[in-house]
Amino acid sequence: MTDNPNMPTPTGERILSLRGISKNFGAVSALTGIDLDVHAGEVVALVGDNGAGKSTLVKILSGVHRPSSGTITFAGREVNLPDPGSALALGIATVFQDLALCENLDVVANIFLGKELNPLRLDEVAMEIKAWTLLNELSARIPSVREPVASLSGGQRQTVAIARSLLLDPRIILLDEPTAALGVAQTAEVLDLIERVRARGLGVVMISHNMEDVRAVADRIVVLRLGKNNGVFPPDASNQDLVSAITGADNNAVSRRANRRQAQATSQEAQP
Ligand SMILES: Nc1ncnc2c1ncn2[C@@H]1O[C@H](COP(=O)(O)OP(=O)(O)O)[C@@H](O)[C@H]1O
Ligand SMILES: [Mg+2]
Repeated sequence: MTDNPNMPTPTGERILSLRGISKNFGAVSALTGIDLDVHAGEVVALVGDNGAGKSTLVKILSGVHRPSSGTITFAGREVNLPDPGSALALGIATVFQDLALCENLDVVANIFLGKELNPLRLDEVAMEIKAWTLLNELSARIPSVREPVASLSGGQRQTVAIARSLLLDPRIILLDEPTAALGVAQTAEVLDLIERVRARGLGVVMISHNMEDVRAVADRIVVLRLGKNNGVFPPDASNQDLVSAITGADNNAVSRRANRRQAQATSQEAQP
């Protein structure tokens, strides 16, 4: 694991800490000896190629899978996350890639899905106020909380899913590819939203394939490769370094181009 000396030291309290997390599915080692720290008020980007183990790690943190070995420490205490309910109760909320929204229900109903206030007699007014408050705190642009989710853009849906994850006041939120399906403007909106979640003091773990998005909001970039840690980088790390860590190859299109540029620059300098 390459520890970068230029890495800024996180200032927030360490909320979540994984040590030596491994996960086997039968003969397949999906994760081997993963270490990960998440602090209050920071965005940690989790990057890696397909099959690197990102989703498995998120599923362990959200209580969907149990690790085969290793420890999870939350707020200074070693914990088990036997099921999704216990992860949520502890303060770890997850926005999965499919968002799991109900198309035909409105924004309020989606935010409160499964957590309706006073379930015997739904308090629609209180839920609508709470939904608006959450969305306003995030400066989210949602035209009406009484619109069915089906009528919203991809960015607005992501916003609703993130607002829903904040309902139980978590300390950590995990976002699996929050910008994968979005255009440029909507991506910018969701990245703004992530910054506002960080400003509230939450720890954010964001999985992404898009190095531009990662660099735009991440405080640290954690690379997984073949189920193992393969380096932690600051947001200003070069594309070449990131791609090398992700692919495990020094000889790839990005590094070849960088080398060519370097060679050109050197030969130009050498000319009188
Ligand atoms: N439920 C499962 N059963 C068996 N193998 C799995 C399961 N989930 C993931 N894997 C394997 O674990 C490895 C990591 O997968 P995954 O966590 O989905 O990677 P990523 O999200 O980084 O693409 C892959 O080799 C994948 O095939
Ligand atoms: Mg995945």
